[in-house]
Amino acid sequence: MVLYTRPPIVEVYQGDPFASPCECLVIPVFQGADGKPMVGVVGDLDRGGQLKGASDLGFFKAGVGEVLRAYVDGKLAVYVGLGRFDDEWSKLLENTRRGLASGVKQVVESAKCSLLVLSRLNQDVAREALLAALLASYRLEAFTSERKRLIERILVDRGDLDLDYVMAVAEGVYLARDIANAPPHELPPRRLAEVVKELFSKYPNVAVEVFDFDRLVEGGFGGIVSVGKGSKEKPVMVVLQYKGSSGAPVALVGKTVVFDTGGINIKTGESLVYMRSDKAGGAAVLGALWTISKLNLKVNVAGLVPAVINVPGGESYLPSDIIKMWDGTVVEVTNTDAEGRLIIGDAIAYAAKALGAAEVIDLATLTGAIVVALGPLIAGLFTRDERLKEGLLEASKRTGEKLWPMPVEDDYKQWLTRGAMVGDIANAGQRAGGAIYGALFLERFSHGKPFAHLDIAGPGMGYEASGVAPAYWPDRNLAPGYGVRLIVEYILSRSIAVASS
Ligand code: BES
Ligand code: ZN
Ligand code: MN
Repeated sequence: MVLYTRPPIVEVYQGDPFASPCECLVIPVFQGADGKPMVGVVGDLDRGGQLKGASDLGFFKAGVGEVLRAYVDGKLAVYVGLGRFDDEWSKLLENTRRGLASGVKQVVESAKCSLLVLSRLNQDVAREALLAALLASYRLEAFTSERKRLIERILVDRGDLDLDYVMAVAEGVYLARDIANAPPHELPPRRLAEVVKELFSKYPNVAVEVFDFDRLVEGGFGGIVSVGKGSKEKPVMVVLQYKGSSGAPVALVGKTVVFDTGGINIKTGESLVYMRSDKAGGAAVLGALWTISKLNLKVNVAGLVPAVINVPGGESYLPSDIIKMWDGTVVEVTNTDAEGRLIIGDAIAYAAKALGAAEVIDLATLTGAIVVALGPLIAGLFTRDERLKEGLLEASKRTGEKLWPMPVEDDYKQWLTRGAMVGDIANAGQRAGGAIYGALFLERFSHGKPFAHLDIAGPGMGYEASGVAPAYWPDRNLAPGYGVRLIVEYILSRSIAVASS
């Protein structure tokens, strides 16, 4: 079962590519040291000589993502550039992803079936190529009156790719995209919880618990209750526990603000439409758990998804209100638009203390300040833990999901108490350094557990990404499902490290 969108089916086909059942071929081409396509490597797949012809005339240079379309033997051949062969691994992977994604995007609306010629690539590179092709096939069309996406099947010309891995990751990213981009009233908190229950019911080693509004009130989840109570659609927290081994779980906490109007401190302006994707953190956590469950990884992972709608109204929380958080901290609300830290603060503390997490990672579209600092493609990484830092940055290099280390500055901790007149700490600090303040606020709730905070406000939402986004991201500034690949790779490498120690 899927939420809205299913990736194309993948099959192996190993005959003559021009005799395949697909109407279209995507053929990657490296660029030689002379700045021209390596036509010799393409060999007999340049049937008709159009690649060589275009190359000789200088029309096609095989730069990254450059495309040459040719009609050959009754098929469309799409030659895509991968750029110069690069010795640096992460660059080679990224060029390949971009190349294949550009090629496939040419035919998403015009071909039912596309054959990828991957047999001349290194095995790991070919796996990334296939994954990028699947990610580039994504179109959110559940809410349009017309379907434009035609692609249903992708064939590959080699049998040695780990298709289980590729499909599990593609499905996880598709799920995260569907959730992050869903219009708010299509997926209010309780509906989201139902969807998650249904989706994960097929995995016997995943337990899904839904904390409804009453239980959140009784349990003392003051942050989630305060932020969420202003909406007719009451808040929930979904707790997923994936069991693949023994031992303490890695806890993943995802900010899930189904829509963020700012509340009484209401937002204005055009950027409000992006706030449908203020649930991108939760979407990434759910997508990652989907992939991890499907791959049956030998790890324990908990996913915490506190879901709210932040709106102004007669029952909304107010600036100057105080909130008793789940762990007892009294927070003074100085700005109702700093709502994310209140809901995930509760969830982080619950993961650390009640679930006994080994470590806690949160993903949150937390601050506009991080978007100003790093732009639409890069998330900020805040952690004091070297192992988390290295592991996450390494995963970032492999997956191309960009991440940059940010300071957790002790001197700025004064901001936590300075703004509060009657509470322990204030929820909003100064404007300068706003992303750091958010991280320091959240860190308090991790209660000494190894902790990493990923502020994904830029890439999580696809915030003004159009024009710079890689081809495997969706068009029109839609959220790309950022974080799923990063977390899955991190968990994978961590499980390998644990197994061999
Ligand atoms: N969801 C927003 C963060 C955001 C803002 C993401 C703009 C992308 C673009 C978050 O809840 C928020 O409103 N943060 C405030 C915090 C401030 C009031 C301390 C912000 O960044 O302005
Ligand atoms: Zn928000
Ligand atoms: Mn906000």
